[in-house]
Amino acid sequence: MFSLPLLDNARLCPLETWHAEEFAAHMARAVDHIRPWVGQRFVTDSLEGARATLSRYAEWQAADGARLYGIRLDDTLVGGVMFTAFDAPSGTCEIGCWLEPAAEGNGLVTRACRALLDWAFLTRGMHRAEWHCRADNERSAAVAKRLGMALEGVRRESWPYDGTRHDTQIWAVLAHEWPAPARSR
Ligand SMILES: CC(C)(COP(=O)(O)OP(=O)(O)OC[C@H]1O[C@@H](n2cnc3c(N)ncnc32)[C@H](O)[C@@H]1OP(=O)(O)O)[C@@H](O)C(=O)NCCC(=O)NCCS
Repeated sequence: MFSLPLLDNARLCPLETWHAEEFAAHMARAVDHIRPWVGQRFVTDSLEGARATLSRYAEWQAADGARLYGIRLDDTLVGGVMFTAFDAPSGTCEIGCWLEPAAEGNGLVTRACRALLDWAFLTRGMHRAEWHCRADNERSAAVAKRLGMALEGVRRESWPYDGTRHDTQIWAVLAHEWPAPARSR
């Protein structure tokens, strides 16, 4: 199947409903690590839940909405990136990401997000891409910063988790702020 190289041993690939068993096995490795930081509907710990997530994204993608892609390191699924929202008529989208702990620290997500943003801005003509993260999620904010996004504001106490309401940071980059395609960087 087609894929986009991220590093010599890493690539960005489609993540579809038929990958449910592999996605469930990956989620089992990632779930405790990602649970505090991602949308709770995305956190699954069963094959049924994994299949439901992939099916939801397949339906959204068929309607030109949200999309999900996997990151493979040495052929093992270790994380992914997604358009959590994609609204072509308004030219706005939102990006999300996750990795299992062993795959952090290699620049995989920054590279993968650049590929998504190249596609959104240069192929699809989108105008604005957002990044939402818990205000205390330093690794996530660091990715947004690396992507050249600006911190636009904070939605106070909008992220309930485990009995506490956390602030949410809103980062964004606009089409005219987006640099040349990744291949020339
Ligand atoms: C957020 C998350 C995906 C970030 O992962 P990450 O590995 O820090 O991000 P990247 O893949 O962009 O890699 C950046 C790291 O690789 C290093 N790196 C190496 N080569 C690099 C390169 N060419 N480009 C960028 N970074 C590179 C960076 O120095 C950085 O490591 P450091 O923080 O130790 O300095 C990860 O922490 C995670 O899954 N967290 C839990 C889920 C989550 O928070 N999701 C986001 C919800 S908003």
